[in-house]
Amino acid sequence: MKPLEGRKIVCCVGSGGVGKTTTAAALALSAAMEGKRALVLTIDPARRLANSLGLKALGNAETLIDPSHLAEAKLTVRGEMWAMMLNLKRSWDELVRRNARTAEQAQAILDNKLYQTLSTAMAGSLEYIAMEKVLELYSSGRFDVVVLDTPPTSNALDFLHAPDRVLDVLDNNAMRIVLGPMLKAGRFGLRLLAAPSGLVLRTLARFTGSDFLRDLAAFMMAFEGMYEGFKERAANVKALLSSPQTGFVLVTSPNPLTTQEALFFHRALERDGIRTAAVVVNRVQRDPRRHGGPDNLAALREALQLAQIKDENRLAERLCETLTEQAILADLDRREVERLRDTLRGVPLFTVPRLRKDVHDLAGLWQIGEYLGGE
Ligand SMILES: Nc1ncnc2c1ncn2[C@@H]1O[C@H](COP(=O)(O)OP(=O)(O)OP(=O)(O)O)[C@@H](O)[C@H]1O
Ligand SMILES: [Mg+2]
Repeated sequence: MKPLEGRKIVCCVGSGGVGKTTTAAALALSAAMEGKRALVLTIDPARRLANSLGLKALGNAETLIDPSHLAEAKLTVRGEMWAMMLNLKRSWDELVRRNARTAEQAQAILDNKLYQTLSTAMAGSLEYIAMEKVLELYSSGRFDVVVLDTPPTSNALDFLHAPDRVLDVLDNNAMRIVLGPMLKAGRFGLRLLAAPSGLVLRTLARFTGSDFLRDLAAFMMAFEGMYEGFKERAANVKALLSSPQTGFVLVTSPNPLTTQEALFFHRALERDGIRTAAVVVNRVQRDPRRHGGPDNLAALREALQLAQIKDENRLAERLCETLTEQAILADLDRREVERLRDTLRGVPLFTVPRLRKDVHDLAGLWQIGEYLGGE
């Protein structure tokens, strides 16, 4: 894709179910075919797509797509096609292990009940870890381009702001004040944490249970000294995302409600100083008139006759009706695409037709990639 030339990181964002995962994988495949070492970092891909990318259920490791699989799909890849499925829990654990000052500190965090909940359930946790992973993969220098797929529930902004939000939780001043006595006590050994002291803590304990408070204090304590590292990387991620090395690809369907959401994403990115690199309108209804469709009843009848299909007259009429309906849908889609093009003047826009089947293998991805200006 032309607008993505020279970009090191590509983020595919958009509403649920529009084709973010498909687009991300197709873009990575195209880049690999052009000779790049490309990695698609997917989140929750459909099982069949994951299978054809050779990804295992628990994932969290970069996997090189077997060249023999590519050859089976009749694809010649000059570079390397890698895929990875993000595993939230494992990524957090690895992050903690890498950044803890000592193995004991890492273990204290990993064993903390609150950490176990927070790392998987905290709002923005997935987005944060995805960004950490992107930074890690990018910095490793092993890939020319990393294409990030994003989860259905979040929007482009979650990715930009997740680092702030997660850091807020880790460095919550209010929490530090309330837990202060416990945190201090903690430095002299966890035994002192047994009973919450002070009025605020005693009151809180009545609502939350003192176990919870103890876990919380231990959690905050365990993170002591790691916060700065987190903060620094979060700043790096933000800078990287806003740099020209990163391209945001907005994926949408031609449905007016979805294009509305796409425009919202676009403006939100703009407010953060980020230009949308490209818009992909996916699953656009093909226009049957381009193949001499509903306007040519005689030709349809003849084709059916040639194929020795019985009852060709009635069938031809019904086919005509279906094709007429398809033509109406195609008109609606075209109008919506034009509207979007007008509104987003200056942003390169690509349309991908609705294929007959779901896209769950390499050949299907390649087909999508062709519409995105791949090889
Ligand atoms: N152009 C297309 N033609 C036909 N099927 C498509 C096309 N693009 C995507 N699909 C299919 O639509 C389904 C949804 O696509 P995909 O999983 O890529 O969407 P998503 O935006 O990642 O969804 P989610 O928000 O749930 O993660 C998949 O089954 C995929 O194979
Ligand atoms: Mg998806």
